[in-house]
Amino acid sequence: MLKEIFEQPRSILDTFRGRIATDLSAIHLGGLFDIMPKLIAAKRIIMIGCGTSWHAGLVGEYLFEELARIPVEVEYASEFRYRNPVIYKDDVILAISQSGETADTLAAIELAKEAGATVLGICNVVGSSIPRETHAGVYTHAGPEIGVASTKAFTAQVTVLTMMALVLGKERGKLPEEAYKKIIGELSSVPNKIKEILTQDDLIKKVAALYKDASNCLYLGRGFQFPVALEGALKLKEISYIHAEGYPAAEMKHGPIALIDEKMPVFFIATKDKSYEKIVSNIQEVKARKGIVIAIVTKGDTVIKNIADHVIEVPDANEAIAPLLTVVPLQLLSYHIAVMRECNVDQPRNLAKSVTVE
Ligand code: G6P
Repeated sequence: MLKEIFEQPRSILDTFRGRIATDLSAIHLGGLFDIMPKLIAAKRIIMIGCGTSWHAGLVGEYLFEELARIPVEVEYASEFRYRNPVIYKDDVILAISQSGETADTLAAIELAKEAGATVLGICNVVGSSIPRETHAGVYTHAGPEIGVASTKAFTAQVTVLTMMALVLGKERGKLPEEAYKKIIGELSSVPNKIKEILTQDDLIKKVAALYKDASNCLYLGRGFQFPVALEGALKLKEISYIHAEGYPAAEMKHGPIALIDEKMPVFFIATKDKSYEKIVSNIQEVKARKGIVIAIVTKGDTVIKNIADHVIEVPDANEAIAPLLTVVPLQLLSYHIAVMRECNVDQPRNLAKSVTVE
């Protein structure tokens, strides 16, 4: 898992390869070429997946709605397949899967095809079942992922979703050329920014040592960072067996706030974006109840540094790109906590890398 976390600067470059023009002026997704007219005309996109891939879909929802102004729904494949969902012929279903073999996702694809929708895939394993069953798609090319808890496959999925949202935004006339190019530039700087985050591994390990014995943890984020909160909590549960929950930070007052006491570590993803002021107030609310705050912040942030117990910095980035950065320290935190608890991080108990049965 550690190897895969550290591979991310490279694996994201592999996801870009041949797709982002060298002068950073355009993105080409060859796998979508034939179905592009349908995608441009789509009235809505339904993203389906399980586990971490479902979290990538949630980031995708923010990306597609923000950059391409297409309504998106994100569904657990297992719920979608049994819910008798309303599927229109002009819907585009986007299945997201690392392995390409997840039983629920495959069944959901079948259902969508029967309903006459266009079905696309974002997949890591070349030639697996999902790419074979879908009409078109984009491979993530993150390389083999062996650790059961997904890390580099997640950032590759989000990278593909960002590229798709940019292409669609431009083709649908919703994203001005200047913004399109600016975000491509930002996206291309992600590998170097992740390298910078990885240099803080020792600091992250020190923070991990302080909270390795926690029984419960809360992860909070808003906007683009809400799915990252869910993913951070999932990583911790999967490999350290500590109970962790992710929530949109504003929902804290509708329940989780009751759990906060001086033993409760609360991880905030609080980078500088349009929710910043709001999340600073959420941090103050936790501190007022004696909770412990560990915040992932934008480099140079002094406001949160003065309130939080610990801060971990990530380089400044456009809010649409930031999830690719903020998830990395959360992966490392979970990894170190799990190792300190003597858990088998690569083969956590009861979990399988690929869930091919119901
Ligand atoms: C399992 C794995 C997770 C993964 C999920 C979906 O639960 O342990 O890491 O996110 O399946 O798998 P997929 O291959 O469809 O992305």
